[in-house]
Amino acid sequence: MMIKSPLQIARENYVPKMPSSLKGGVKIVEGNVTESVADQDDIKRIFPHTYGMPVLNFEAGEEKTYEVQNVGVILSGGQAPGGHNVISGLYDGLKKLNADNKLFGFLGGPGGLVDNQYIELTADIVDHYRNTGGFDIIGSGRTKLEEEAQYEKALVNCKELNITSLVIIGGDDSNTNACVLAEYYKNNNAGVQVIGVPKTIDGDLKNEMIETSFGFDTACKVYSELIGNIQRDANSAKKYWHFIKLMGRSASHIALECALQTQANVTIVSEEVEAKQQTLDDVVTYIASIVAKRADNGDNFGTVLIPEGLVEFIPAMKKLIAELNDFLAHNEDAVNALEGNKEKREFVAGRISAESREVFVSLPNSIANQLMLDRDPHGNVQVSLIETEKMLIDMVKAKLKKMKKAGEFKGKFKGQPHFFGYEGRCAAPSNFDADYCYSLGNTASMLIGEGKTGYMASVRNLTAPSNEWIAGGVPVTMMMNMEKRHGEMKPVIQKALVLLNGAPFQKLVENREEWAINTNYVYPGPIQYFGPSEVCDITTKTIKYEKA
Ligand code: FBP
Repeated sequence: MMIKSPLQIARENYVPKMPSSLKGGVKIVEGNVTESVADQDDIKRIFPHTYGMPVLNFEAGEEKTYEVQNVGVILSGGQAPGGHNVISGLYDGLKKLNADNKLFGFLGGPGGLVDNQYIELTADIVDHYRNTGGFDIIGSGRTKLEEEAQYEKALVNCKELNITSLVIIGGDDSNTNACVLAEYYKNNNAGVQVIGVPKTIDGDLKNEMIETSFGFDTACKVYSELIGNIQRDANSAKKYWHFIKLMGRSASHIALECALQTQANVTIVSEEVEAKQQTLDDVVTYIASIVAKRADNGDNFGTVLIPEGLVEFIPAMKKLIAELNDFLAHNEDAVNALEGNKEKREFVAGRISAESREVFVSLPNSIANQLMLDRDPHGNVQVSLIETEKMLIDMVKAKLKKMKKAGEFKGKFKGQPHFFGYEGRCAAPSNFDADYCYSLGNTASMLIGEGKTGYMASVRNLTAPSNEWIAGGVPVTMMMNMEKRHGEMKPVIQKALVLLNGAPFQKLVENREEWAINTNYVYPGPIQYFGPSEVCDITTKTIKYEKA
């Protein structure tokens, strides 16, 4: 029995806004044949049945009757606000196509499909989850669907439930795998269609046809609210520098969006650090120089936004991490046999390349220890566990101490570390995400009804009012290129990192001097679910600038 908050009860009655093309009967308009973004010959060879299909646009059309279908749905990977609305949109869409259609939810992510763990999603269940955050309706997981044995097991389970379509709600990897599955089932005449839906708070699954992944909007609003609150505290007390790490495993879209929303003093963008081949010391020097400049104005406080993936984008750190992974894989016992951390650090430092040693010994001891210890089952350092925000505070402090001696810093510095990630992933979806996700779910149902496979549900024109949004389907192969994974070339959906010549980053560049030195904070406040449209329905600055 779910205990509901007053907001949850009120939100249950929110009716998501949809593109007008999805409101009645739908006509499918086919565009031209498509090509993959790169490596066309390879992608075409690997996906002979799902390559080159046209982009599909939905327009208002006549009502039709559709064959009865049973459909399975899976949530894959990290939570993102709006997942429940994809499911309710899919459910309502399927029922509209044919009242006898059934929806089954596989439990705990892709693993549930392979292990045949499922529930039937009925109105009684779905209604409790409308417009709520979280993935708890069926749970999620990170099992990868990438082996034929899994496809075959999944097929047996689908046949048992008479499922003829699967909807996979996930990020770039899960959608890549959805397409591989679609191709495999088509090649084997298995009679199961596969449709993807673009999800991830990280915002790195996007392209010309997918303007944003769902959840990015809500998550960034939650983080921006928190950053705004912290900035107001900083500006009131005037005694702390807040170092705030933000989720986003590889791309810095979240940090950038939050910077644009809150006008923080310093924002590090990993993609820029990599492009300029900056060292950790360059990043530290940059932050320290701003701390010193603000101190000259009497402002011993500020905010620094740090993307979660930063350390992997600093070339020298990347090299150090790779060397440590390799070294520890072969020498773990020898390292563990040593008593203290100091001995361990010295042992490791004496056995890695001179370049990596220099970086390793420059790190605060706590971080160097973390790099030696926290490793995943594959033997890799777990980068997301590295407390970059604390590391930077320590290093900036040390740098400022030196600057003080040289007469280059006259202020005070006290750092406060924060990490925002899980706080935003299951927030109740903003109106934008509630509408967008419900529309994506509905779009997926229509693609299923029309017999499509290997497509991703797409809803575009997102800066226009929702009735003007363009719904349709995009062949997943269109987004693919070949990339090296575990030493092998594989077809994958191209990840969208922050473009340094893109409008959102350029906006930061135009303003960052000003935002650094002055206190130009914006306090976005909490997400508003009820009230004037200009407060409740706005979406991200990222889309606004990208589409301008
Ligand atoms: P997805 O790419 O699966 O959507 O997940 C993104 C993310 O939220 C990252 O921002 C973060 O690094 C990661 O998940 C955390 O993963 P976990 O939930 O396994 O701790």
